[in-house]
Amino acid sequence: MQFKDDIYFYPGQNGMNFSGEINCNTVLIKGSKHLLIDPGIARRYEELLAAIRSDNIDPSDIGLVLLTHGHPDHAEASIRFKADFGIKAAMSNVERQFLGGVGRTFYRKDFYKNTKAGSKYRISEYILPDKSMFIPVFSGPFLFENRQYRLYDTPGHSPGGLCFHWPESGLLVIGDNYFPGTIGAYDLPGGNFRTLAKSLTMLSGLLDVEMVMCGHGEAIVGREQVRQNYAALFDEIKIKENTVDVNEESESF
Ligand SMILES: [Fe+2]
Repeated sequence: MQFKDDIYFYPGQNGMNFSGEINCNTVLIKGSKHLLIDPGIARRYEELLAAIRSDNIDPSDIGLVLLTHGHPDHAEASIRFKADFGIKAAMSNVERQFLGGVGRTFYRKDFYKNTKAGSKYRISEYILPDKSMFIPVFSGPFLFENRQYRLYDTPGHSPGGLCFHWPESGLLVIGDNYFPGTIGAYDLPGGNFRTLAKSLTMLSGLLDVEMVMCGHGEAIVGREQVRQNYAALFDEIKIKENTVDVNEESESF
């Protein structure tokens, strides 16, 4: 659905409920060629295509799939976009390397059965993309179809997490770094609480942010709402800093 001007938003089917089949929110920036951010899981790919088409957008006109990180609920359907339309996908180089190693964990069924971090999620097996299908992108200015965007490295939820900023429109797409009212998970393989806290401090300092699209849940709209949300996140960080919780963040894999 059209969110504002050239920005389209396709919500994941179960919002902030992480106990069922998880799918992320998808963002599309319409242009001469469209930019699609986080296509979600392959099982919902056909539904996403139908939703995009119902907005009179032809999926074959997508020029690039950009990934905030390599978790399957964000990245898996990029395999289908590549196979069906030849659309390239990009992620940070760090995340790409991660996906060639420990990051593969997220695509295996036993992770969701046998580990404390994974057992929170009820998920079946995913198709593991080969890391070579992803073009590496880096933090800094990001020019696509004559528009100037910015990418930011935001590790902490995943080692190569990337945020997408379009200053001209006030849009910030942040993947799973945080959500309305709560910080992202840091207890998954490759996650780290203190690193995530640093990334959120950096993000909170960005100017030109009027709407934040999170990987799950509602968009945060309005400068004051964005500010209030950061205030809540930093309260949560302060509380967590004073608990043992953060010291048992990552199981060994
Ligand atoms: Fe994630």
